[in-house]
Amino acid sequence: MDRNRLELTPDEMRDFGYQVVDILVEHFYSLPDKPTGKTASRPALEKLIEMPVPTKGESYDAVLQDVLQHVTDNVMHLDHPRFFAWVPSPSNFVSVMGDLLASGFNVFSGLWLAGAGAAQVELTTLHWLIQLMGMPQESGGLFVSGGSVANLTGLTVAKHIKLNNAIEQAVVYFSDQTHASVERALKILNFAPHQLVKIPTDTHYRLNTKHLKRQILKDRKLHKRPFCIIANAGTTNTGAIDPLEEIHEICKQEDLWMHVDGAYGAAGMLSQEGQQLLKGLSHADSLTLDPHKWLFQPYEIGCLLVKEKEWLTRTFENRPTYLRDTQQKEEYNFSNTGIQLTRSFRALKLWMSIRVFGIDAFKDAVGHGLYLAKVAEKKIRQLPDWEVITPAQLGIITFRFSPASNSEKENDQINKKIVASMIREQYAMLSSTILDQKTVLRMCIINPRTTIEDVEHTISKLSEIGQKISLKKKIIV
Ligand SMILES: Cc1ncc(COP(=O)(O)O)c(C=O)c1O
Repeated sequence: MDRNRLELTPDEMRDFGYQVVDILVEHFYSLPDKPTGKTASRPALEKLIEMPVPTKGESYDAVLQDVLQHVTDNVMHLDHPRFFAWVPSPSNFVSVMGDLLASGFNVFSGLWLAGAGAAQVELTTLHWLIQLMGMPQESGGLFVSGGSVANLTGLTVAKHIKLNNAIEQAVVYFSDQTHASVERALKILNFAPHQLVKIPTDTHYRLNTKHLKRQILKDRKLHKRPFCIIANAGTTNTGAIDPLEEIHEICKQEDLWMHVDGAYGAAGMLSQEGQQLLKGLSHADSLTLDPHKWLFQPYEIGCLLVKEKEWLTRTFENRPTYLRDTQQKEEYNFSNTGIQLTRSFRALKLWMSIRVFGIDAFKDAVGHGLYLAKVAEKKIRQLPDWEVITPAQLGIITFRFSPASNSEKENDQINKKIVASMIREQYAMLSSTILDQKTVLRMCIINPRTTIEDVEHTISKLSEIGQKISLKKKIIV
């Protein structure tokens, strides 16, 4: 080791690298038999991890042990086959190696001159996604860190192209089930709260288009400037899909921008069933989709696609003098299509994993999630005292333990306790949300390595826990 040059010897690099690869292989293969992972209190972790800036350095073996014992041992495994909370990230080993290569070669993906091969891989991978989403050939896009930044980037393009950045009087519409990143993006873009109009949803948590049309009419009468509708292709809460075709028609008639947030749900387009459900998605002016969700990539890779690739450069291009050598005619500089100049080579992992497994494997994997959510729904419907709140939609199901003898408030408390108990047990992880003022449980089942048994055992456990808590309550009463 030569500390002054921040350098390991080749043998040390091999030793360190092989150790890390062995650890990861073990992680991937033993995951189904392990707990879903844990969390820890801040004081406990401060005690384990906080230290003064190390001056002299220590062996990589010691640091690696510390990472395993104190860091990765205190995280949840969102790639675990029984991790059903929020939107999991099933990941895959090929992509992990892709990330390692991208980082190892420290590829600069902002400029063609600096990373021509990487830029071509990104263009090719984007072409694949454009095709899979059924968008027109002239579409373009870029990879970003995740769905929040994809939404921000898409809405920045909408504001630039549709409004020429003059946002006064402009109004944006989206349903009350829309992901919070959308509101945050609009806030960053300087829209005032009164310019964001939340449209109520129907009984299936889909944007109510009758209400939307009435609102647009009302706003026009008030000389406001309707400009954009943000539609959901899979809400985070329930997997609900807004009526995309109808929203497209409204956008056409009213000359509005159609942004679709398909951060997790757009991947449903890989299955025939999903294509039926997501009809209209391909008309999006801008579309958010996250490969680090249902396209099985490790964090961070989100994606924005737009219907005309020039919209990106029109919004973001600049040519500072210090980059004057980097602009040749046919070259493609991704730094001119989004917010980042320095960008990591995110496309590599997706490109490599699609090449290694083939897109048919990805299609089957998406279909598996759709199927397992239906298995979960069937199992829950067979249980006494449980009700399905929203049926399986794009891999998500919501449900609730609701014995008729309890009040709704008591059932809220019991359902919260069920989640807390599952978190403690670490057999499976799921989360709760609120729908129509009721606490409901929610499973998002999108991991291709999840088995029917994983789903059924998890639901049996939920049922046991629910009964136990209910019984205790009766004894106390
Ligand atoms: C529908 C939807 N949009 C946006 C996001 C935000 O994505 P990210 O967490 O990658 O920023 C999420 C995250 O779950 C989501 O489900």
